[in-house]
Amino acid sequence: MRVGTTATRQISRRDLLANSARAALVAAGSVLPGSLSLGCGDHSGRPQLPALAPETPSKGVSGSASLRARAAAKGLLTGFAVVPSLLRNEPIYAATVREQASILVAENAMKWEALRPSETTYNFDDADALLNFAEQNHIKLRGHNLLWHRGIPRWFIATATPVNARKLLESHIETVAGRYAGRIHSWDVVNEAIQVSDGRPDGLRDSPWLRLVGGDFVEVAFKAARRADPQALLTYNDYGIEAESSPDEAKRQAILLMLRRMRARRIPIDAVGIQSHLTASGPRYGAGLIRFIASARELDLQVFLTEMDVNDRAVAAPIAQRDAAVATTYAEYLDPVLADPAVTTVLFWGVSDRDTWLNHEDSRPDRKPERPLLFDPSFKPTQSFFAVRDAFDRRAIVHGK
Ligand code: XIL
Repeated sequence: MRVGTTATRQISRRDLLANSARAALVAAGSVLPGSLSLGCGDHSGRPQLPALAPETPSKGVSGSASLRARAAAKGLLTGFAVVPSLLRNEPIYAATVREQASILVAENAMKWEALRPSETTYNFDDADALLNFAEQNHIKLRGHNLLWHRGIPRWFIATATPVNARKLLESHIETVAGRYAGRIHSWDVVNEAIQVSDGRPDGLRDSPWLRLVGGDFVEVAFKAARRADPQALLTYNDYGIEAESSPDEAKRQAILLMLRRMRARRIPIDAVGIQSHLTASGPRYGAGLIRFIASARELDLQVFLTEMDVNDRAVAAPIAQRDAAVATTYAEYLDPVLADPAVTTVLFWGVSDRDTWLNHEDSRPDRKPERPLLFDPSFKPTQSFFAVRDAFDRRAIVHGK
């Protein structure tokens, strides 16, 4: 375990200084860290800021010291879930993303709720802007997601019936995945469809999709996605499969059963996403997860860590101990996972602690802000940043071999 070594702490302090100086300059309007244009923006009416010379590198975490460079050296893509309005409005947020990420995903902007104000209309503004930002900066983009039991618009629940739901699903996938065909790294085609405690032999969650489309909704979605975008890697994404607990093991088995059935029936699928919302000083992660990844590899699937963060609600200690526990959890989780060559992509669910979803959905009992990500609220790299980067460095695999 190299978390918190002297060298790491020294680099970290230098970075803190460099970054806070930069943040102060940015705040004062004296420097702008790079071009701020998000997408073409031409028809948005938003003022276009001039493209500027590359920002002053934040010592120690940019260029060859960035996450994206260290990941690339080990055959990995890495990046964050992002929010288009923050990319548009916050120079330091956009600069951090540009500097560190080789792949992005929309935290919410590509979900049904965001794209579908009504049955007959689509709003692609944010999703388009995000893809343009990614392309302009040579960053890949994941699509998230085409089917989920949450984030379903009200009109859908009011309108969909067992007669029309399949068509509604297929035409959504055709329109959305079709619009971005050839430009998306991978789609989370189906998100969180397994819930063993709902009691079905196939493990499927009791959801509107199951009730309205039927027991073959997963197959319907994957086939539609392949038709719409033959190039995107089609992914099944889920949570609650990371820990050494019996519910997590049962869910891993149910997912593997589904994946094997899909293979047997030649349903197109290329990857499995392990969300990796982790808890510091909580459950143990280990052998069961590693077996799951190996089983996915044997099915010829890639494995993506799609939504990593570490909540610290089980750690009541002062901030230094909370941060150390979070960083340790990152390192201990990543080391064995990254040893498997099937793992090719690691994404974090947010850029800075300021914007983490955990403060809204899974907050600490004492209501103190969570510290789960790789950048603190002023975009200084956290101890976890260095723990993750060190874990990338320790990967024995070079360029995916
Ligand atoms: C979350 C977002 O972070 C929140 O902003 C939103 O309110 C709800 O969804 N699993 C997923 C993600 O697949 O889409 C979820 O994102 C987090 C859990």
